[in-house]
Amino acid sequence: MADGPINIYEYEPLARERLSKTQYDFIAGGATDEITLKRTRQVLDSIMLRPRMMADVSRIEMATTVLGHEVSFPVMLAPSGAHGRAHPDGELATVRAAGSAGTVMVLSSASTYTMEEITQAATGPIWFQQYFYEDRGMTVEMAHRAEEAGYTAICLTLDIKGTSKRERNIRNSYVTPQTANYQWANNLVRDRSATWDYLEWLASQTSLPLVLKGIMTGEEGKLCAEYGAKAVIVSNHGARQLDTTFATIEVLPEVVDAVDGGIEVYMDGGIRRGSDIVKALALGAKAVLIGRPLFWGLAVDGEAGVRAVLNILRDEMEMTMALCGRPTLDSLDRSMLGITSPLLSALPQSQGLGLLSL
Ligand SMILES: Cc1cc2nc3c(=O)[nH]c(=O)nc-3n(C[C@H](O)[C@H](O)[C@H](O)COP(=O)(O)O)c2cc1C
Repeated sequence: MADGPINIYEYEPLARERLSKTQYDFIAGGATDEITLKRTRQVLDSIMLRPRMMADVSRIEMATTVLGHEVSFPVMLAPSGAHGRAHPDGELATVRAAGSAGTVMVLSSASTYTMEEITQAATGPIWFQQYFYEDRGMTVEMAHRAEEAGYTAICLTLDIKGTSKRERNIRNSYVTPQTANYQWANNLVRDRSATWDYLEWLASQTSLPLVLKGIMTGEEGKLCAEYGAKAVIVSNHGARQLDTTFATIEVLPEVVDAVDGGIEVYMDGGIRRGSDIVKALALGAKAVLIGRPLFWGLAVDGEAGVRAVLNILRDEMEMTMALCGRPTLDSLDRSMLGITSPLLSALPQSQGLGLLSL
């Protein structure tokens, strides 16, 4: 008998036992009917792998780069607020785990510890996530503060112009925790009028590369590249903002095709198995990010729990690549997938999709 959890799914109930109902629901939940939340897993599970047998898989290469940083495998830690809700060490634990796994953490501006305390604890590169504030001075000030503290990219989250209806939180009377980074104030109100010029303006104010998070269409992916972003994250905020959107894995190919190699494309949403990572990379993502699983690891065993979560994903990814006969990241492509989702199966047959179209 293994003594601990052996996959990401087994972490969740253990974490649930350690968290209050309010905190568990905040982390696990999605917007309104949670249709996209469910769809995310359904679509990932509906993508079938077409394995090759007779390939040399004696060495599996998973290391890659994200915005020029070397990472040991293509999984980053998604920006997510207040890790202190899951463990007293909060982001200090998470950033250490990211460093020891050889990958990048994206720090949420709503962190439990200050952005400066977190860089002190870091042993690898960190990116800083923030929003577009109505007070543009504040937006730039945050970016400059991150730059000074040693962050190497600004991740701007675009999909949170409104407070979404998360019904579990409403029922639980959830109260957003205070962040250590700043005092809540009116000048931190998100700018609902922001359009592409805001982005162009911000890009001119910081020397850090901009990563735009929350893109769900090819048209906007292309605009991100045109307005100066260096990378884009295909994301629907873990199905926590607008419900009844497609799953991110379904729209990933249209974004990849629209940006056409001009900028890097990452994806998050529902990554729970090594095979999910392989599927996203086969559809053109350079890397993926994980959100909820890091909270499950943190709640169960702090830094060691996050490390264990990352190790499980790494081992499963390696095994999937070996059994698929695809030993390098470059060898992962659309021809290894059979697709049942109508949106994905509409992609051209020449790209290897549509095999299992129903
Ligand atoms: C508890 C929680 C807090 C989050 N906080 C933020 C945040 O502060 N900023 C942000 O851009 N995204 C935030 N997200 C979204 C994640 O960055 C990511 O898009 C999502 O969790 C990925 O889906 P997954 O949880 O299925 O892996 C949060 C997600 C969760 C679960």
